[in-house]
Amino acid sequence: MDIIEKIHELKVVPVVVLNSVDEVEDKIGGLVEGKLPVAEITFRTACAAEAIKKSIELYPDALIGAGTVINAKQCEAAIKAGAKFIVSPGFADDVDLVCKAHDIPYLPGIATPTEIIHAISLGHKIIKFFPASIYGGLKAIKSLAAVFPDVKFLPTGGINEDTYLEYLAFDKIIAVGGSWMTKGSHEEIVAKCLQIHEGK
Ligand code: 3PG
Repeated sequence: MDIIEKIHELKVVPVVVLNSVDEVEDKIGGLVEGKLPVAEITFRTACAAEAIKKSIELYPDALIGAGTVINAKQCEAAIKAGAKFIVSPGFADDVDLVCKAHDIPYLPGIATPTEIIHAISLGHKIIKFFPASIYGGLKAIKSLAAVFPDVKFLPTGGINEDTYLEYLAFDKIIAVGGSWMTKGSHEEIVAKCLQIHEGK
């Protein structure tokens, strides 16, 4: 299945910050056990590439991507580690080029119409709306979707268990991203993911 279709099917993309590869089993394992086998492992920590590699080794059926990728070097490292998709908080032209060269889906972050026009001009139809709750939430997405009918959104930032279903109810939203289910112990992660699995 196409990666974007898979993200659409999973509906929720956990944003994971790992401080050490030793956390892979607790965190990524928790997502898998909670029937939410997908993760955006962020390049906010030095172990990101190694954590992506280990996650894929341990959970080959999970959809593992890279997040907070802000330059070509990180993007190359993420793809080399096996990342299946790349996410940025903004639009990074050099990351876009690397993804296109490797034929890997790139979900750039946008918050304004000008950024959407830039993304469309480079062939993008699916964008991460970030930080969603600060930049107007669902109301803002509905306004943007009315102007850009061919664009679909992956809102992320400030979304939680109380708000994600409201976002998912809008058909221009392919999935939501967030870290709310990645916090706490392994057991807590499993429980929150199972709740998502039952709720969507
Ligand atoms: C991201 O990188 O997409 C955000 O940190 C996720 O936002 P959240 O932590 O508010 O869910």
